[in-house]
Amino acid sequence: MKAILLAGGKGTRLRPLTIHTPKPIVPIFDRPFLHYQLDLLKQVPEIDEVILSLNYQPRRIEEIFGDGADSGIAIRYVVEPAPLGTAGAVRYAGESLRESVVVFNGDVLTQVDLGSVIALHRERKARATIVLTPVENPSAYGLVEADERANIRRFLEKPNADEITCDTINAGIYVLEPDTFDRIPKDTPWSIERSFFPSLIDRDETFVAYVYRGYWIDIGTPEKYIQVHRDIMDAKYIGHRGRQAARFAAGPATAFVSPEARVEDGAMLQGPCFIDDGVVVKAGARIGPYSVLGRQCHVEEHAVLEHAIVWANCRISQEAIVRRSIIGRHCHIGRSAIVEDGVVLGDKSVVTDHSRL
Ligand code: GDD
Ligand code: MG
Repeated sequence: MKAILLAGGKGTRLRPLTIHTPKPIVPIFDRPFLHYQLDLLKQVPEIDEVILSLNYQPRRIEEIFGDGADSGIAIRYVVEPAPLGTAGAVRYAGESLRESVVVFNGDVLTQVDLGSVIALHRERKARATIVLTPVENPSAYGLVEADERANIRRFLEKPNADEITCDTINAGIYVLEPDTFDRIPKDTPWSIERSFFPSLIDRDETFVAYVYRGYWIDIGTPEKYIQVHRDIMDAKYIGHRGRQAARFAAGPATAFVSPEARVEDGAMLQGPCFIDDGVVVKAGARIGPYSVLGRQCHVEEHAVLEHAIVWANCRISQEAIVRRSIIGRHCHIGRSAIVEDGVVLGDKSVVTDHSRL
């Protein structure tokens, strides 16, 4: 069985982070995001190949994952000549498939039991099965209504406030029958959410819901990107290899410090936080809760970080403060600068001494 991972979006809501780092490989702690999804797909022994459907900066992704040997699952790349939308991409990537295929949005992190989703699809002899998850506000997602027999009755992408009739949304995980792909026009941008799924309902096909109430998040906005780090530090997401969670399992507020980092005497660490290889934290600096420091970052004397995600190779100068913000690679935060409340800095940004953002 094959899995298609839709990972060709431009990641506009995560800009400027995604200008040099496509969304599928933004780091979550010290691992590119896609690794977490491959861990999930590997839970199903039947899935023997992952097809990565790409078009935005495909080379960057290929360089990391290669043929998948290091990840323990075969990976093939299909690069669209131009973005074909979510359905167009599935058709393009799934052209040669004849058996049921798992399709996954490339930006969701979850612990759903994929094996039982596939089992339900088979049991119901469905043409399509889709994982639903409850959220507080469905407006940023695809709202999906199912009846008591778990048949999908309505699919409405990005509903307006007055159109919200339930709390279940499309979790971006499907099992599909490739012989339905002929409904998707060839080589034309086409949406799985706005066109393909509604067409299954119109034709009264067996279109089934699998409702999942466990951990699920779409990492595609800065708020959610910060939240996923927080959730892992709080052990709300355990993951499949458990490595990330194991780091935070020692207690509710573990400070994970790489053995290859150097935290000087007189620096203060308040867990939970994560300090990667080669990081230097100088005396008097305070790394507050829910902070993440990527490789080779330098935090100088009396700088303060709280709820800050800092990518590799940044310098946070003396007495600077970074709170509730995301800092891209190779940034320089000047002395006594204050960066707070939802700032997102692209790679190589320079914040001059005493600036306030
Ligand atoms: N190959 C390819 N080509 N991939 C694409 C394209 C394309 O043209 N457009 C989007 N994708 C990929 C994105 O990279 C992402 O992984 C996935 O398809 C979904 O696109 P998003 O842009 O992240 O959509 P969304 O988050 O607004 O909404 C989707 O996900 C929600 C769950 O997170 C929809 O599927 C909603 O219905 C759903 O609720
Ligand atoms: Mg998304």
